[in-house]
Amino acid sequence: MKNSSIQIKNLDELKTMRRAGLLVRETLELVRENIKAGITTSALDVIAEANIRRGGGTPNFKGYHGYPATICVSINEEIVHGIPGDRMIMPGDVVSVDCGAIIDGWHGDAAFSVVVDPIDSADQTMLNVCEQSMWQGIAAGKCGGKLTDISYAIEKYITSQVQQGAAKYGILREYGGHGIGTAMHMEPHVLNYGRAGMGPDLVVGMALAIEPMITRGGEKTKVLSDDWTVVTIDKSRGAHFENTFAILPDEKPFVLTALDGGRAELAALGIEISSLLA
Ligand code: MF3
Ligand code: CO
Repeated sequence: MKNSSIQIKNLDELKTMRRAGLLVRETLELVRENIKAGITTSALDVIAEANIRRGGGTPNFKGYHGYPATICVSINEEIVHGIPGDRMIMPGDVVSVDCGAIIDGWHGDAAFSVVVDPIDSADQTMLNVCEQSMWQGIAAGKCGGKLTDISYAIEKYITSQVQQGAAKYGILREYGGHGIGTAMHMEPHVLNYGRAGMGPDLVVGMALAIEPMITRGGEKTKVLSDDWTVVTIDKSRGAHFENTFAILPDEKPFVLTALDGGRAELAALGIEISSLLA
């Protein structure tokens, strides 16, 4: 893919994307506080939509290729794109929530997974591995590098985390991260696996949503008859974390969908974030 098909944002545009990103993260935190056994997934969707509209945003999932809700809520062997409905969250469930919003035409997109009490430690470990692989991918997204440096870092971290005697994690192949800006899904597609050093150059003004999706079993998935929900064929549980980050004009990264811009998580990996959006 040519670099020329990738949308490049200026600082003012990235400032607007930061507003969208913050609204998405604040909405996700509000949803997280409400996740407990007994609540329905549609109740979580109502909470999310109200918060996005209160914050001056518009849900970008709603109406996207006919998607009917503000968030995706995916439980256990559902990995992504679960549609909110009457299903109740149950004790021990792994719950993944994905959310996006538009402010003044600019998009934000982020996701997290959480385990409901009583927490299975192998589920929690899988979540930790998935989340940290996202940060490793963002940290590898350096100005002057190549797109698949991110892909490689994500896969390398996940494969390095298999405990002795435990099964390896599956990394979904058909889904990945993406460019984002005046649309939710833009060029380039970001694989969560592969060799480093390939694809477009990483340059100032790029914004990418980084979103590893892993399972405690196989990587093969199918889409349910609702045309959306992605489940593992082997029924293994999965996790999904996502942040939108950009490369700022000072050539440093900033995580648009993290409350602190990614400062703490990236500092732990030796990366300093941009001060241009502080
Ligand atoms: N936010 C998802 C992604 O990370 C896409 C959600 S699909 C939708 O790319 F239909 F729900 F919008
Ligand atoms: Co996304």
